[in-house]
Amino acid sequence: MINFKQEIAKQIALVTNLNENELVNYVEIPPDSNMGDYAFPCFKLAKELKKAPPIIADEIKVGIESNINQDSVIEKLEIAGGYLNIFINKNLLAQTVLNEIAEKKEVYGASRVGESKNVVLEYSSPNIAKPMHIGHLRNTVIGGALHKLYKFLGYNVTSINFLGDWGINFAKIMAGYSMWKDEYDFTEKSLGPIFNIYVRYNELEKEDEKYTDIAREWNLRLEKGDEEAVRLWTWIRDVSIYEAEKIYKMLNCEFDSYNGEAFYNDKMDDVVEELKEKNLLVESKGAQIVELEDYKMPPCIILTSAGTTLYATRDIASLKYRAKHYDFDKAIYVVGSEQQLHFKQIFKVFELMGYEKYSSRCEHVYYGMILGSEGKKMASRKGTSLDLMALLNEAIDKSKQVIEEKGNSGGDSQEHQVADKETLARQIGLGAIIFNSLYTSKIKDVVFDWDNILNFQGETRTIYTIYICKNSKCIRKGRIYT
Ligand code: ARG
Repeated sequence: MINFKQEIAKQIALVTNLNENELVNYVEIPPDSNMGDYAFPCFKLAKELKKAPPIIADEIKVGIESNINQDSVIEKLEIAGGYLNIFINKNLLAQTVLNEIAEKKEVYGASRVGESKNVVLEYSSPNIAKPMHIGHLRNTVIGGALHKLYKFLGYNVTSINFLGDWGINFAKIMAGYSMWKDEYDFTEKSLGPIFNIYVRYNELEKEDEKYTDIAREWNLRLEKGDEEAVRLWTWIRDVSIYEAEKIYKMLNCEFDSYNGEAFYNDKMDDVVEELKEKNLLVESKGAQIVELEDYKMPPCIILTSAGTTLYATRDIASLKYRAKHYDFDKAIYVVGSEQQLHFKQIFKVFELMGYEKYSSRCEHVYYGMILGSEGKKMASRKGTSLDLMALLNEAIDKSKQVIEEKGNSGGDSQEHQVADKETLARQIGLGAIIFNSLYTSKIKDVVFDWDNILNFQGETRTIYTIYICKNSKCIRKGRIYT
C-alpha cells in the first residue's frame, strides 16, 4: 500500500538532500482539495537551506517534475506563495483506496485519534408519555451518526437521552388513569392507552376547570414522592422507553443513559445555591436571573417569581453533573435550531460559574425544523401527531412493494425468498430514511408537501407518507419529501 506522505517526502529529500523522515512531518493536507491533495510548506526549510521559500518551492517543483511519468506518485505540482501544492496520480490513489477498503472492510477509515478522550453526546431526548413523532427523526438520525463517527475515531463516547420525563402531562395521565383505568386494556406494553388517556383528559379539562386542579394535586403528590404517583410515573416512563427503543433499534441507535429531566430534580438546589454564592443571581420582577447583557443576550432565568426552577436551571444542573461524572473533553447537544439561544446562555452561565474548562468544550449541534405546508411548526399537541413508527413502517412497506415490482432476487426456496424480501425491505426503507435525514442540509428547515408521492427514484429524494393521528386513529394522510 502506498504511503503518499512518505513518497512525497522521499522525492523532496532527493531534491533537497534533507532527511526524509524529518520532511514527512511537514507534509500537510490543504484546507481546500482544489488546492491539491497535499501541500508542503517550503518556508519551514528556509533557514536550513538559506533560501527564500518561493525559490525553494521552485527548485523542488523543477526537480520532481523532471522525473514525472505515467506511473509516478505525483502527477502535478503548483506553487502558491511559500507552499508547494501537490496533486497525486489519481489512478494510483483510486487503486490504493480501493485496495485498502477491500482489506479493512468495516474498519476502513477508523482511527485512534480519540483514544482516552471522553465525549458526552446527548441526542434524541423526546418528551415522553406520548409516541415519538416526525420531529424526532432528524435529531435521532444525526445524533446516531455522530455517535458512530466518534466511536469509529476511538473516542470514549457516552450517549445520553435526556428524556423530557417530568411535567404536568404525567399528572394528567395519573388523574385520568385513576378515573378510567378499567375502560382501557393495559395487557400489552404499549403507549396507546396511556396517550389516549392523556388526550381524553385534556378534552375534559377544557370543559371543567376542576380537572386542572385535580391534575395539579397529582403533580404535587408526585413531587412529594407519594408512592402511587411515583409508581405510575415509573410505569409511564418505562413504557415510553420500551416504545422508543423499538424506534431506536430500527434507526440503529443506542443510549448509555436515559437520565432525563427528572434525574436532576434533587440536583437543582445546589446549582441555585452555587449561583448565589458566586454572586451571579440578580432579582428581576421577583424572579432570579443571571444577567447576560454584557454578552448581548437576554438574561437566563433561574427561578421564577414563584420560586420554581426552569428548563435552564435543569440544563445547568445536568451540565455540572456531566462535567463531574464524565470529565468530558467534548459535550455535544443535538437539539433543534430553535434552542440556539438557550444553549448559548447555558454555556455562558456555566463559564461565569468558573467552569470555563468545560463550557469551552460544549457544542450545540443544531438542525432545521420540519415544517408544515403552511410553513408552521408541526406539533403534536391535542393528540395530533406525525407518528414516527408509522412513517418508518410506511418506508419499509413501500420498499417491499418496489422489490416485488422489480422482481425478487432471493434464494431458491419459497420460504427463503420471503425472508430475504422482508430483510431487504427493512434495510432499504430504513436506509433511505436515514440517508435522507443526513443528506438534506442539516441547518435548513424541511417543508412538508402533501402533494408528492413516495418515490424511490433518484439518489437524493425520498418521499414518504405521513400519518396524522388522533386518538391513535389516522385522521389525515399526506406526503413529505426531503
Ligand atoms: N426534551 C426537549 C424537547 O423535546 C429537548 C431537550 C434538549 N436537551 C437539553 N439538554 N435541553 O424539546
